[in-house]
Amino acid sequence: MSVVSTRESSFRLVQYETLLDGLERTGHDVEYQCKSGYCGMCRVKILHGDVKYLEQPLAFVAFDEILPCCCIPVADVMLDCVLRDEFRVELDQQELFPMQQNLFTEQELAHDSQNKSPAQTKRRITRDKAKRTASEFSLDLF
Ligand code: FES
Repeated sequence: MSVVSTRESSFRLVQYETLLDGLERTGHDVEYQCKSGYCGMCRVKILHGDVKYLEQPLAFVAFDEILPCCCIPVADVMLDCVLRDEFRVELDQQELFPMQQNLFTEQELAHDSQNKSPAQTKRRITRDKAKRTASEFSLDLF
């Protein structure tokens, strides 16, 4: 399975996912409407790699653009795409508390992931551990 890289992240598509589905799942800021290749709203610049269209799109695209709603990568691709603000906050927290990132255990993630997405789980655990650390150092961050 090909690796999809963006300006701030990288991921792999899961089975039956289009590029747009993968970008949405991983918190990227991509607008869309039809999800069928008609409107062109999801247009994204492709910086490297190649894609295959699942159905021939009707919307216009420049030579360096793709419509992620109706294609999948045929090799590793790099897209000119950034994360939504709420996902960027999570990255900022990781930079503020780098030691916290090594404190996740598989048990914590597995236990909590039954009702929440991995991103929600990781965000909650990060926030809880950051609060604990802040209270240890008498910091009033939250
Ligand atoms: S969402 Fe309309 S072309 Fe992709």
